[in-house]
Amino acid sequence: MNQPIKTKGRVAWRCPSNIALIKYWGKQREQLPNNPSLSITLQNAFTETVVSYTYDKFQNDISTSFLFGQKRNKPFENRINEFLLKIQLQLPFLKHLKLRIESKNNFPHSAGIASSASAFGSLALCVCSIEQELFGQLSDHPELEGKASYLARIGSGSACRSMYKGYVVWGKHPSVEFSSQLYAVPINHSIHPIFQKMQDSILIVSSEKKKVSSSDGHALMERNPYSLIRYQNANLKLTKLMVALKNGDMQQFIEITESEALELHSLIALSVGNHILLRPNSLYIIEKVRKFRIETSLPVCFTLDAGPNVHLLYPESVKKDVQNFIREELLIYCEHSQWIHDHIGQGPVQLPNQSL
Ligand code: DP6
Repeated sequence: MNQPIKTKGRVAWRCPSNIALIKYWGKQREQLPNNPSLSITLQNAFTETVVSYTYDKFQNDISTSFLFGQKRNKPFENRINEFLLKIQLQLPFLKHLKLRIESKNNFPHSAGIASSASAFGSLALCVCSIEQELFGQLSDHPELEGKASYLARIGSGSACRSMYKGYVVWGKHPSVEFSSQLYAVPINHSIHPIFQKMQDSILIVSSEKKKVSSSDGHALMERNPYSLIRYQNANLKLTKLMVALKNGDMQQFIEITESEALELHSLIALSVGNHILLRPNSLYIIEKVRKFRIETSLPVCFTLDAGPNVHLLYPESVKKDVQNFIREELLIYCEHSQWIHDHIGQGPVQLPNQSL
């Protein structure tokens, strides 16, 4: 291996979370997805990670210390250590490093926003920047985002989609050029202008810890009797959604997005445990949104993560009307009237390398 051109430094990245329209639910081994997924990268919900590193060629075991929001967080620390251990196969220089990792989210933990996506996304970007600083270039990859997407996937599947702005696909699919099981690709060149400024208002029905973690949920698909049909269906829906996104077909977009959210929750309900993750207030919101859409003909629809909180998606052109509707009719169903406003985002940003 090349000798490093420097032996210590500090790197920092901000990485946003993302919300899937076609869901990743079911995987094999190190996050190889059982179906392709398609997401929108967010702008305001992000993690910032700063990594200080020291290189010592006589050290043969990576050494890490970790602070999350200025505190220690044992479960997350274990997950990060496992991740760093796994990616050492691709990045043998890691074993010579002493790392001090500091991370913080700018959104509440249980808001129904995937914090593992932004957390592993920002850490993978930091690891790639360290490689560049140490050796002047990345090994085996032409560009930083591509390599970071590959690495982030090993930490958390959905994290690989957060490396790019706008619309992103992860998982092999015939209608997406260069798509791969191993990393995500941006598809912004084939998005109609009406979808380019999508808004995402997240209505917090409950901030309780998730009843089914993503890892457990993916595992439940292994014994789900509908899993094969599900994977075929996800492929089909992705084909149709790609066409709708290209042609500006809002009607199709709404139909596919809502059916996909309900399919995710149906799969969860039909898996071992028969979990119902939606709360009565989630259903009231869904009913109200559909009624509002019929009465006003405004293009607003919902999607869901594996929890009770509801994401409302709509173009910027109707922001004022939809937000008035949220304030007047939906906040009564939210815990302490909480909601978070976000929108389609610009992707990760490298930060000046100061501490958080
Ligand atoms: C419902 O990416 O959190 O949000 O790969 O086990 O870390 P791991 O799972 P994760 O799963 C996300 C599931 C989902 C749908 C999606 O984001 O596509």
